[in-house]
Amino acid sequence: MAKKILLTGDRPTGKLHLGHYVGSLANRVKFQKEYDCFFIIADYQVLTDHIQDTKQVPQNVEEVILDWLSIGLDPKQSTFFIQSAVPQLAELTMYFSMLVTIARLRRNPTIKSEAQNVRVDSDKDNITYGFLGYPISQAADILLFQPDIVPVGEDQLPHIEQTREIAEKFNSLFGKVFKLPKAIVSENSRLPGLDGKSKMSKSLNNAIYLSDSADEVKKKVMTAFTDPTRIRATDPGHLQGNVVFTYLDAFHPDSKELDLLKERYQKGAVGDVEVKKLLIEVLNNFLEPIRIKRKEFAKDKKYLHKIITAGCEKARGVGEKTMQEVRRAVHYDYPGLLG
Ligand code: TRP
Repeated sequence: MAKKILLTGDRPTGKLHLGHYVGSLANRVKFQKEYDCFFIIADYQVLTDHIQDTKQVPQNVEEVILDWLSIGLDPKQSTFFIQSAVPQLAELTMYFSMLVTIARLRRNPTIKSEAQNVRVDSDKDNITYGFLGYPISQAADILLFQPDIVPVGEDQLPHIEQTREIAEKFNSLFGKVFKLPKAIVSENSRLPGLDGKSKMSKSLNNAIYLSDSADEVKKKVMTAFTDPTRIRATDPGHLQGNVVFTYLDAFHPDSKELDLLKERYQKGAVGDVEVKKLLIEVLNNFLEPIRIKRKEFAKDKKYLHKIITAGCEKARGVGEKTMQEVRRAVHYDYPGLLG
């Protein structure tokens, strides 16, 4: 039997961080053998809020590919491709754009908060058509490949919900072409940033990157938010909202040992510095093999070229098959006139 299909991806805005790993990358690795995977590098999406920065996109695309390879995504099993290199995505976006109202787009909470970050307002007229509408393009990213599952971070759930609505609407108007994909979110998917204030994010400058050196990890962890009520190491410590323990929960390989440490911390029997030192060790043990692989892959530009060219070609092939069905369903395949 054919494998089920998985699709997900990232924006090429720079190197990926631990928040990406916990939210989505770890699930990709887990599902890679079982599913036929498509991984999209969403370069069109950079245009929504960073249109002045397209010059950096080629470098960022390369960083994303290197991050993917170094955490163990395998182009022999999976398809890596670039959004703008698959024209069928733009074509499908055109059809989908007729199925969504402006009011519905404005209700998407992720759009609202992303707009705020770049000081536009999704309720006013200073947001571009492409920004407000990018969930439609994302629905095309997903549905063109007919996936069963879409592993994403929590912030992407509104987009998957909208994708499902679009699929339903299309199917009800033109007959069943699309199946409804399911979002998969990992347990502790919303990794906070080092400051503990919000999620880990490049723009908030509170991230640990998969490619950070051992020294950078050490420096960053030392600044991490812990328990502000605690003055001395003998004061009872709190775990709630404590970034260092949240990271240990996500990355410590031995949960029993971690439980003991938590008990001691809550009793005031262990200081913040000791806990931070442990976290540095845990993170560096996790990151070291990733760093080594990343360096190896970075040397082999020919290999990167090869896998991306092949991936984009495969994505166009799969996409063209779906588009033939779409054009036929809409009656825009013009038998007798075209083809
Ligand atoms: N919006 C996603 C992000 O910002 C990237 C993305 C684009 C994506 N197309 C997708 C994710 C399709 C999952 C499926 O990270």
